[in-house]
Amino acid sequence: MKHSSVFSSSLLLLLHDLILLLCVVSVPLPSMADGAADRLALESFKSMVSDPLGALASWNRTNPVCRWQGVSCGRRHPDRVTALRLLSSGLVGRIPPHVANLTFLQVLRLRDNSFHGQMPPELDRLSRLQALDLSLNYLDGPIPATLTRCSNLRQVSVRSNLLTGEIPGDVGLLSKMLVFNLGQNNLTGSIPPSLGNMTSLIALFLQSNTLEGSIPESIGDLKSLQLLQIAYNRLSGAIPSSVYNLSSISVFSVGNNLLEGTLPANMFDTLPTLEMLLMNNNHFHGHIPASLSNASYMGDIELSVNYFTGTVPSHLENLRRLYFVNLSDNQLEATDSSDWEFLASLTNCSLLHALVLDTNNFGGRLPTSLANFSSSLNIITLGSNHISGAIPTGIGNLFNLTTLSLSDNHLTGVIPPTIGGLRNLHALGLSGNRLTGQIPHSIGNLTELNRIYLQDNDLGGRIPESIGNCRRVEEMDLSHNKLGGQIPMQLFSISSLSTYLNLSNNLLNGTLPLQVGNLRNLGALVLAHNNLSGDIPTTLGQCQSLEYLYLHDNSFQGSVPQSLSSLRGLSELDLSSNNISGNIPEFLADLHALQRLNLSYNDLEGNVPNDGVFRNITAFSFIGNHKLCGGNQGLHLLRAIPLLVGSMNLLRSGLSSQSSLWLCVR
Ligand SMILES: *[C@@H]1O[C@H](CO)[C@@H](O)[C@H](O)[C@H]1NC(C)=O
Ligand SMILES: *[C@@H]1O[C@H](CO)[C@@H](O)[C@H](O)[C@H]1NC(C)=O
Ligand SMILES: *[C@@H]1O[C@H](CO)[C@@H](O)[C@H](O)[C@H]1NC(C)=O
Ligand SMILES: *[C@@H]1O[C@H](CO)[C@@H](O)[C@H](O)[C@H]1NC(C)=O
Ligand SMILES: *[C@@H]1O[C@H](CO)[C@@H](O)[C@H](O)[C@H]1NC(C)=O
Ligand SMILES: *[C@@H]1O[C@H](CO)[C@@H](O)[C@H](O)[C@H]1NC(C)=O
Ligand SMILES: *[C@@H]1O[C@H](CO)[C@@H](O)[C@H](O)[C@H]1NC(C)=O
Ligand SMILES: *[C@@H]1O[C@H](CO)[C@@H](O)[C@H](O)[C@H]1NC(C)=O
Ligand SMILES: *[C@@H]1O[C@H](CO)[C@@H](O)[C@H](O)[C@H]1NC(C)=O
Ligand SMILES: *[C@@H]1O[C@H](CO)[C@@H](O)[C@H](O)[C@H]1NC(C)=O
Ligand SMILES: *[C@@H]1O[C@H](CO)[C@@H](O)[C@H](O)[C@H]1NC(C)=O
Ligand SMILES: *[C@@H]1O[C@H](CO)[C@@H](O)[C@H](O)[C@H]1NC(C)=O
Repeated sequence: MKHSSVFSSSLLLLLHDLILLLCVVSVPLPSMADGAADRLALESFKSMVSDPLGALASWNRTNPVCRWQGVSCGRRHPDRVTALRLLSSGLVGRIPPHVANLTFLQVLRLRDNSFHGQMPPELDRLSRLQALDLSLNYLDGPIPATLTRCSNLRQVSVRSNLLTGEIPGDVGLLSKMLVFNLGQNNLTGSIPPSLGNMTSLIALFLQSNTLEGSIPESIGDLKSLQLLQIAYNRLSGAIPSSVYNLSSISVFSVGNNLLEGTLPANMFDTLPTLEMLLMNNNHFHGHIPASLSNASYMGDIELSVNYFTGTVPSHLENLRRLYFVNLSDNQLEATDSSDWEFLASLTNCSLLHALVLDTNNFGGRLPTSLANFSSSLNIITLGSNHISGAIPTGIGNLFNLTTLSLSDNHLTGVIPPTIGGLRNLHALGLSGNRLTGQIPHSIGNLTELNRIYLQDNDLGGRIPESIGNCRRVEEMDLSHNKLGGQIPMQLFSISSLSTYLNLSNNLLNGTLPLQVGNLRNLGALVLAHNNLSGDIPTTLGQCQSLEYLYLHDNSFQGSVPQSLSSLRGLSELDLSSNNISGNIPEFLADLHALQRLNLSYNDLEGNVPNDGVFRNITAFSFIGNHKLCGGNQGLHLLRAIPLLVGSMNLLRSGLSSQSSLWLCVR
């Protein structure tokens, strides 16, 4: 099991399946009886399962048993069934215990069907059984303790079922086991120490159960182990030092547990063939051992969400197969350029796909070597650190990047126009820095961009019109900058905008272009805290997906457009602190999704409606409008009297609210 290529964690299971594909050597044994018993057993099997896809159509009397679909017979005993392979056959029902009558059976594979109920305890009669694959079914209940009598078993997979209970304590009796897969079930209890007796074991999969307790010392006896997959459990304590001595291990996956302790300094020397090290989401602490520089087979390193401290070891240039590195959410640090040497050394890893270093204590200046990564690099993230300095102009060389995040650091200087070279970029995060200057015109070259975050900087000038070329953007946040001038109407040609568009807290002025109505898929439009003026465009009513519309703290005037009545999904509307006049439109009371409405500090007049959002006194706010009346009694406003045609006389007699359809009276 030597893997020449680098592989990702999703391949773990595939790897296991390959192992199960290995032929099982037929062991010749004396014939005890004819095949009649086998035929009976299989006929019973067929009669007891439901076969909606007709997978068992060939199982009929005119066809010899050994020619039946999925049935194989022995070479020495041509009438005896040695293998039953019914994979992905759509079979439904309980596993008939009659399979246990196939006493010559060596291989039983019923993977990926819809078998439910318990594993038949009768399987213990299959003393010749070498491979058992019941994975991807709906089996429940415990693993029968009797299974340990099938002492010839070499491969067992029951992954992806609903099995409960504990792993049988004497499972180690299955001492010929090569591949043991109990992953993705609901097994409880601890890992039995007897597992250490499976001394030929190559691959152990216990992931995604609810196993607890510590990893038994005896796992260190599995000298042939190449693959240890015990992630997603509740295992605690330190990993026994003997496990770090298993020199054949290539996949070491213990992530998402409650494990603790430090990594031995020579760990990567004692595990020389390590290809995947997945220890994320645990409580490990201490340094990442310098011996990492010797891990020349390493492909994936996932150490995120732990308490690792210190610097990242330098001299990683020999990790020629390195593909994925995630060290996020630790307390790793860098202060001076020597601490950043690791980054320069990683630029020699020509297969590197992702380098994730977010949420650590990395400081000092952003190294210019960032620009030297190989074209294989797709993801680099350094967000939420304390990094200062400027974004290197060479960044534009990383043309294969899909994700670049430098958010929430102390970066200064401008966004280099070379950024337009990142033509494959899907996500750009530069928010939460102190970047100045303008958004470069070349942003329009990023035509694959889905998400762009430039908020919380000191960016000035106008939003470039070229941004309209970013036709795949779904989420855009340019808020909390000093962007001025008009919002370019090209921005509103990005009809892919869906999650949100946030331009709030800038210095934007002029009117809101009518083209805003093109944003049919937009969920949230946030333009608050700018200097926008003119009418609220009636075309906003075409933004049928809007749930959040925040236009507050601008200088909008005119009335609330009637067209907004078509925003049936609107949940929050804030128009406060503008110069909006006229009546509160009745349709706002009919927008059933509306949960919050803020109309404060405008120049509204006339009646406050009584229904819908207006029923709930905490859901809406109207203070700072001095000509409102009516509404629910708890508001203590003047009464509102509708102005009918006949009351025109009253108007002429000089009472207030000429433009209103309502009269406010005591
Ligand atoms: C029995 O199975 C064979 C092989 O699939 C098929 O050719 C034959 O028609 C079947 N006979 C009957 C009676 O269904
Ligand atoms: C086969 O197994 C079933 C259930 O385990 C049992 O009831 C039956 O007697 C066996 N039949 C033969 C022919 O051995
Ligand atoms: C596994 O057990 C947990 C609680 O112990 C339960 O919430 C969950 O639904 C179970 N999952 C399955 C697939 O049975
Ligand atoms: C493991 O093997 C040892 C030595 O063969 C034996 O003494 C012990 O009982 C076995 N343990 C289990 C639980 O099988
Ligand atoms: C690890 O292996 C080395 C050399 O084979 C040996 O000296 C040491 O005792 C082993 N450590 C453990 C904890 O098994
Ligand atoms: C790397 O391996 C070599 C040869 O085994 C050894 O001498 C050296 O100390 C190791 N380096 C580290 C940093 O552990
Ligand atoms: C890196 O780890 C963090 C924390 O576990 C996770 O949220 C993030 O998705 C990982 N990044 C990648 C690219 O896998
Ligand atoms: C990286 O590779 C280049 C050329 O392949 C080589 O000149 C340089 O010394 C290497 N850097 C390191 C740190 O090994
Ligand atoms: C660019 O990245 C893709 C994967 O996203 C990869 O298949 C391709 O080889 C990379 N291109 C280069 C020139 O490295
Ligand atoms: C942006 O695209 C234009 C037109 O294809 C090209 O001339 C220009 O060099 C690109 N700019 C950058 C920074 O890649
Ligand atoms: C809008 O802002 C720009 C740039 O800040 C300024 O030049 C222009 O005079 C402003 N226009 C209005 C109408 O305030
Ligand atoms: C009133 O509105 C507030 C704010 O939206 C909300 O939290 C609360 O649940 C509403 N109360 C009722 C009775 O609907």
